[in-house]
Amino acid sequence: MIRLETKRLLFRDHDKADLELYCEMESDPEYRFPQTVHPRSELERSFRETWLIPKPMGLLATVLKSDGCYIGRCGLYPHRNEDDQIIPGEANIAFYLARPYWGQGFATEAGKAFIEFGFNNLGLSRIEAGMNANNLASIRVVQKLGFVWVQSGEGGGSSWHEFELRNPTTNR
Ligand SMILES: CC(C)(COP(=O)(O)OP(=O)(O)OC[C@H]1O[C@@H](n2cnc3c(N)ncnc32)[C@H](O)[C@@H]1OP(=O)(O)O)[C@@H](O)C(=O)NCCC(=O)NCCS
Repeated sequence: MIRLETKRLLFRDHDKADLELYCEMESDPEYRFPQTVHPRSELERSFRETWLIPKPMGLLATVLKSDGCYIGRCGLYPHRNEDDQIIPGEANIAFYLARPYWGQGFATEAGKAFIEFGFNNLGLSRIEAGMNANNLASIRVVQKLGFVWVQSGEGGGSSWHEFELRNPTTNR
């Protein structure tokens, strides 16, 4: 089911036919950096058990309109507190695109659409974005989208940043 569209992209639920391109993307060490590549069996399991199951709010298969190609996953997913409880009115945003599609403004284009949808259709008051401190492209994308830095930290041998965007029309 198509959930959202932009000029060049459409966002839909994942389909069994996305498996090969999903595994190809997730098997690229440069895409995974600084994390390592999981074995194919683990990728198939995560695809089947996580991405193939439609959710009320979750990352969506991202498809290039020009050729119908699956290029990754983007979108919003529930934001949880330290007790793992969903925080009402908030979401996380994330982008994962295959390397051949980097540097063409696709993540920024997706981000604009999901922010507008999150604030105007879902009534969110705040969207958060977290990333590894080494992920300079991801930092640049959220900065282009208007996110502001909230905090940085370290854990599990790596550093991370947290950014946020508040809905200008809500008063929280
Ligand atoms: C992060 C990611 C989604 C960006 O997608 P994208 O479609 O290439 O992003 P855009 O083209 O919209 O914008 C990328 C911006 O980062 C900049 N950038 C790219 N690499 C950079 C680097 N090493 N240092 C600084 N800026 C960088 C680009 O120049 C561009 O900024 P500009 O428009 O000002 O020139 C993509 O690289 C990706 O999927 N990476 C692997 C998965 C991942 O780590 N996702 C983030 C999880 S939090």
